Amino acid sequence: MNIVLLIAAIPIGYIAAKLIKLLIIIFKTFKSFPNIPQPNPLYTFPVLDQFSPDGIKRMLKAHISPEGNLLHPITHYGPHFDGKPTIFVADAEQFGELFKVEKFPKLDWVYDSFSIVLGNGLVLSNGELWKRQRRNLTPLFHFKSLTKMPPIMNNRVLEFVNEMNATNQKLVHPTHEFSRLTLRIVIDCVFGGSEYLDANVLSEHWETINKALNAYFLCSMLLSSKVNNSLPLPFNITIKKTMQKIIHLVKVAIEKKRVELQQDGERTGDLLESLLLIRDEQTGEPIPESLIVDEALTFLFAGHDTTSSVLSWAMTFISRDHTIAKKIREEVANVAGDRPIEYSDIKDLHYCNMVIRETLRMRPPVHTLDRRSIYDCEISGQKIPANTYVYPLLIAAHYDNRFWNDPWKFHPERFSEKEGLARNPYAFVPFSANTRNCIGQKFAILEGTLVLASVISKFDVLPADPKSTTDDDKWVIFGTMKPVDFQCSFVPISA
Ligand code: HEM
Repeated sequence: MNIVLLIAAIPIGYIAAKLIKLLIIIFKTFKSFPNIPQPNPLYTFPVLDQFSPDGIKRMLKAHISPEGNLLHPITHYGPHFDGKPTIFVADAEQFGELFKVEKFPKLDWVYDSFSIVLGNGLVLSNGELWKRQRRNLTPLFHFKSLTKMPPIMNNRVLEFVNEMNATNQKLVHPTHEFSRLTLRIVIDCVFGGSEYLDANVLSEHWETINKALNAYFLCSMLLSSKVNNSLPLPFNITIKKTMQKIIHLVKVAIEKKRVELQQDGERTGDLLESLLLIRDEQTGEPIPESLIVDEALTFLFAGHDTTSSVLSWAMTFISRDHTIAKKIREEVANVAGDRPIEYSDIKDLHYCNMVIRETLRMRPPVHTLDRRSIYDCEISGQKIPANTYVYPLLIAAHYDNRFWNDPWKFHPERFSEKEGLARNPYAFVPFSANTRNCIGQKFAILEGTLVLASVISKFDVLPADPKSTTDDDKWVIFGTMKPVDFQCSFVPISA
């Protein structure tokens, strides 16, 4: 009996010792920032709360008042699970400094966790590797490449329109429908077409992964991603098995492209081709196959999940305010009439473009960045020691009334050129900014504008509950921030 008690006491004692150590760290860390406000002393781990429904909304409201006043430029949320202090920075005036990767590199534990999905592709790589890959892959989104994309996008939009017609006005989840559409578009425009990758199969795999990702992140946060990765937990197994299937499909696509290149086929300038043709400047060697796979995974995921989120959020606004759809239709009729949208139309679709930007302002799919201070520094007049976890709260800048009038209101016209000129450059940062900004942002805006213009010209979008308002929507992290519970019907305009 005594031996049993002794054996049981060992893990209990271990956990108790860990808890006591954590309490001491929490106590010490709180004392180390006496001048930085803490929205709620009991609310120690906001990074965790982000994953609960509406956690992001709560975090935003802790920093920005209903009138749009910045309540706290910087807040202290106590230590992370590994004992490192954690601060959130909501003041856009500070972002310019925080976006300097040489001072505030990407936060290792978060990006280590992401590597299960993105490998060491462009989002996660650093130093010389990142520089070389960024230089090599930037031409994919040059003006010349973008001009070729609208006809390809239009084919996929037509398919989407047919699918929505076939729903017979039944309720659908736009997050699900747009995810398939944006995945098809990225495969066609960036990967050279569906003969390489099947969007329907991949879309199902991504959905499985998205469902398991939050549990995976929470566990990595508590235990570190290294420990988490070694545990046979159900969500770990699901992610690993599904990633194996995706990686297999990506490898087959790479092989097909390699054979085509060897047969001296016509150059297409797409992602896989560019990756296969990259040569090391010193050795002349091609890049390793594993890096080609990682970049492909990165562009597949980052290139569709974000744009799908924006289009889904746009539906939440449009379905509750019919004047938005009316203005979109009038603009499309004036610019393109009944024909498909062309590249030269995009610059004239001002209102559609502003609806996309206003949606990105109010519901940025990436609402916060994760960074770490590598030197002792000062932020908003507060001394911050090296190795503090620093989270620039991008979404807070988007609701700050120093830059936006009536910021809680959906008002696309605020993006008219005249108003935008005087704005702080960091007041609107859905794509981040400076060297590590989004490589695909022009593509995303082009795609968002074209899809919105085409879909809203064909359908009225009606919410499941006509009495609901956009305040009722849950802001949920599912890959990126999405209205996963929101349902609507696409009613053909002629019906
Ligand atoms: C509305 C759509 C999009 C949003 C809101 C968005 C947002 C962002 C943000 C905030 C970052 C910085 C992440 C960080 O610092 O951790 C980023 C980076 C990146 N995005 Fe996007 N993105 C979008 C669309 C796209 C598309 C369409 C592609 C590719 C086809 C793409 C590919 C990437 C890549 C590769 C990076 C890493 C860039 C680097 O570090 O050099 N994104 N994106």
